[in-house]
Amino acid sequence: MPLDKTYRLVPGTTIFDAEQSAKGYHLNQFCMSLMTAENRASYLADERAYLDAWPLREEQKQALLDRDLNAAMREGGNIYFLAKWGATLGLSFQQMAGSMTGMTEQEYRDMMVHGGRSVEGNRIDHAVLEAAHADRTPPAEHATVTAAVFTSHVPAIGAAIDHGKTEEPYWRPVFEGYEYAKQWETENLPDVVFLVYNDHATAFDQSIVPTFVLGTGAAYPAADEGYGPRPVPGIDGHPELAAHIAHSLIRDDFDLTLVNEMSVDHGLTVPLSLMFGDVQAWPCKVIPFHVNVVQYPVPSGDRCFRLGRALRRAIESYDRPLKVQVWGTGGMSHQLQGPRAGLINRRWDNAFLDRLIEDPAGLAQVPHLEYVEEAGSEGIELVMWLIARGAMADIDGSGEIEVKHRFYHVPASNTAVGHLILENHPRAETPAEKE
Ligand code: DHB
Ligand code: FE
Repeated sequence: MPLDKTYRLVPGTTIFDAEQSAKGYHLNQFCMSLMTAENRASYLADERAYLDAWPLREEQKQALLDRDLNAAMREGGNIYFLAKWGATLGLSFQQMAGSMTGMTEQEYRDMMVHGGRSVEGNRIDHAVLEAAHADRTPPAEHATVTAAVFTSHVPAIGAAIDHGKTEEPYWRPVFEGYEYAKQWETENLPDVVFLVYNDHATAFDQSIVPTFVLGTGAAYPAADEGYGPRPVPGIDGHPELAAHIAHSLIRDDFDLTLVNEMSVDHGLTVPLSLMFGDVQAWPCKVIPFHVNVVQYPVPSGDRCFRLGRALRRAIESYDRPLKVQVWGTGGMSHQLQGPRAGLINRRWDNAFLDRLIEDPAGLAQVPHLEYVEEAGSEGIELVMWLIARGAMADIDGSGEIEVKHRFYHVPASNTAVGHLILENHPRAETPAEKE
């Protein structure tokens, strides 16, 4: 089903959604720059020169130079951001709003004094709305979730790669476990990886603790976590698919934080290195998805699993034939703190892998306490694997999964390394379904 965007049909109205946000990103960020007296002064001194310093489209610059707020809205501007620009020019909200109506300032003020604009005659044309509802046919082509990949993301693995230590006796068995993966990726290269990971006090510090972050930006640099950024390529996002996923997941009641600019740490770059090797450029786009597992309360396994199911609906309703892999990273058992540091639980980890394959809905019911007690305080990262698992075809009954690879090794640094590749095999459509 195409997403319901009937709010676009309300006459004389622009709804600011993830799509408009992507379109107007730099325009709105330009507006934010006007929140210092110094920048306002330099804008007013030479508007054109100030605008030219921003990566704006000419239509966006012209809209502002023409004082045409309707054009600025069309170009992705949002009124609360544009209000900073208006304030710089000495305009009130009432002057700005009135300027978009075709009325004079006085006429608009008089209308407001007399009770405001009537909703009568300003609703959606009934026939237009009905036609829009009737036209909710599934798109002819759509994106597919082709596989799920699960892997630990220990930073020392990245350091071993970056410092040429992969052949050392300590590291060799770890990297041997990923030989299959690299070959499999060359044969099953996706267009996009939806990469579920947790930021480790890198992009998000204590000033903001979002539970779920969807990366809707165009690019993400590898972070400096204290020892310099890893020498890996920059990460290209997929803003259009991410905007679609944002719309679909939030409509499904998952309250996401949308982030356009952030650096990404070992949680994201180590899995990329393990799966794609030491490359000049990552072979596909990546949509980062951060889950807070640093500060309690963290989301439950069940919430993650349900999010994965909603993610599948989101991806598969995108109307372009993209191949998408969903990765779950972190884990397996490890504890990085306190007198219990170094805890490893082979038996629990392997039971987790068994249940992840065979009984994911049951596994999703495991409470936090069990993760902490049995898999160590940082073993809680494993709840993220349930997001990737929830996005697989056997969960909604549209297909079956095949286990392509399974690997387990102790240790990498403080951690038990687990790795699993599951492929989706959609059930062939019956002739009746095709019709
Ligand atoms: C280690 C593992 C992690 O998952 C992490 O985020 C940081 C450190 C470790 O085993 O050293
Ligand atoms: Fe981690």
